[in-house]
Amino acid sequence: MNILITGGIGFIGSHTYISLYERYPEAQLVIIDNLANSSPRTIERLKKITCKSVLFFPIDLRDEQALTKLFHAYRFHSVFHFAGYKAVGESITNPLEYYVNNVQGTFNLLRCCLLYQIERFIFSSSATVYGDGNSPLKENAPLLPASNPYGQTKAMCERILMDVAAANPGFNVTILRYFNPVGAHESGLIGEVPASVPNNLMPYITKVAKGDLPVLHIFGGDYPTVDGTGIRDYIHVMDVAEGHVAALEHLTPGYHIYNLGTGSGTSVLQLVNAFEQVNEIKVPYQIVNRRSGDNPSIYADVGKAESELQWRARRTIEDMCRDAWNFEKQDG
Ligand SMILES: NC(=O)c1ccc[n+]([C@@H]2O[C@H](COP(=O)([O-])OP(=O)(O)OC[C@H]3O[C@@H](n4cnc5c(N)ncnc54)[C@H](O)[C@@H]3O)[C@@H](O)[C@H]2O)c1
Repeated sequence: MNILITGGIGFIGSHTYISLYERYPEAQLVIIDNLANSSPRTIERLKKITCKSVLFFPIDLRDEQALTKLFHAYRFHSVFHFAGYKAVGESITNPLEYYVNNVQGTFNLLRCCLLYQIERFIFSSSATVYGDGNSPLKENAPLLPASNPYGQTKAMCERILMDVAAANPGFNVTILRYFNPVGAHESGLIGEVPASVPNNLMPYITKVAKGDLPVLHIFGGDYPTVDGTGIRDYIHVMDVAEGHVAALEHLTPGYHIYNLGTGSGTSVLQLVNAFEQVNEIKVPYQIVNRRSGDNPSIYADVGKAESELQWRARRTIEDMCRDAWNFEKQDG
């Protein structure tokens, strides 16, 4: 069985590669990635973790010809589509590149999938498609306007996938809406490698703890939350990875959407405190003004994934903090 992983050298794709390898050791996993936001070192690390060579093609999803050749050469059993740009701020300053890469890339992939009669397609979406909705967020909530072009590309891809699935019985689609994936593989060999100054909280914390950045700015200390700081649903990246295996195993005909979160929120200060305690290291922080557009509290309803995919996040906030730091110390 051949499985395609687009963006498989990136943060979530590389961890999912390991979970897929563990579940299907006989499968031929094929990675394509243009290395726009990842390093070839990760290929070596995947080899080391799995003790198996890695089949990698440096293909850009915007290159439809190269993609078609690949689909011709491998009869894919299933396709996991992670590849795309994901930096919210960058998408605001450079929207066109985001639409072209994320939406055009998905068009090209879908054309190949239909041409080669792929039956199983699993797409990386995001909680950003819920816009400003109220938590706990449920999959049947309406798709609200996202506050940035990145979020719009995710909502657009979801709509396109829904239409394509409806028009093509036999092309079965699962959308996974991630909340806040953090942490790293327990080996410390792979993890999140932000290109420059991190956009996300956990890599920012690890950089401050290491001394690469002077201080963590916490945006807003007066929200109506447990300690005034914003609440998010952090989930260990290996739980997210295992969610993909569950999605493949339980994929049924048609179009399905599942949240991948833990179902409970953690405040920024709670995360910082947990990080300091577990790793016995200080993270200097400063509470500053709120950032416009930030929702005080976002967390998932995970009932649907639990009942239909028989999956639930198992790892704790402490696991996330320990593994993120373990990776940062070795690699970051
Ligand atoms: N990390 C998060 O917090 C988060 C949350 C919600 C959704 N997502 C989505 O999950 C997916 C994976 O996220 P990630 O955190 O692993 O990101 P990532 O940037 O680490 O991985 C994406 C990979 O795709 C590759 N890529 C980008 N454009 C490409 C193209 N045109 N052709 C081939 N490869 C290309 C990049 O080089 C990178 O290795 C993304 O679609 C992202 O939008 C991520």
